[in-house]
Amino acid sequence: MSAELSWVYTEKAKDHFMNPRNVLKDEDAYQADGKGIVGNIKCGDEMLFAIKVDKEKGIISDCRWKTYGCASAIASTSILSEMVKGMTLDQAYHLSPKDIAKELGGLPEHKIHCSVLGDKALRAAINDYYIRNGMEDKVKKEKARIICQCMNVSDHEIEQAVLDGARTFYQLQERTKISTVCGQCKPEAARLLEHYVKKHFGK
Ligand code: FES
Repeated sequence: MSAELSWVYTEKAKDHFMNPRNVLKDEDAYQADGKGIVGNIKCGDEMLFAIKVDKEKGIISDCRWKTYGCASAIASTSILSEMVKGMTLDQAYHLSPKDIAKELGGLPEHKIHCSVLGDKALRAAINDYYIRNGMEDKVKKEKARIICQCMNVSDHEIEQAVLDGARTFYQLQERTKISTVCGQCKPEAARLLEHYVKKHFGK
């Protein structure tokens, strides 16, 4: 185990990294009702999440996942796979990286962004289930909204910058170049920065 792993992670996170639960071993043999794949090019990660749904009750009866991600992505998704079993699709859809990190007993702040892969892939799997079952109206698209027209920066990029460590407006600008031309977007960008810091780090 690397030095970083031994002192930065909680015992629970280490356990889930060393003994990941519900890993998808044979993709063809697993009869998923919904499947989602997301990738984070920056991290070089990819995540697949597959769910089985109890259609009568509208709950997730089983799930599997696999990733080429880092220790945090593995531990987060492992615990997520335990959390979602028995949840309604709606409950599972609204789980956030913060909920997952809390369940692990905390994650290093600079690693939270790795944990978003699992819940993003889970939401994609739930949407896939809705589409396969003729419930397109339920598909919740995570539409990006452009906040800075000059530099073409979206609300999703602001959220990602926060997950990558931006806490001040200057740090947000360093990462996204937002508000570096006409400056009209600054109040909205500042509001979103505060919103996402609160959402993910509760400050
Ligand atoms: S709209 Fe953001 S700098 Fe102009």
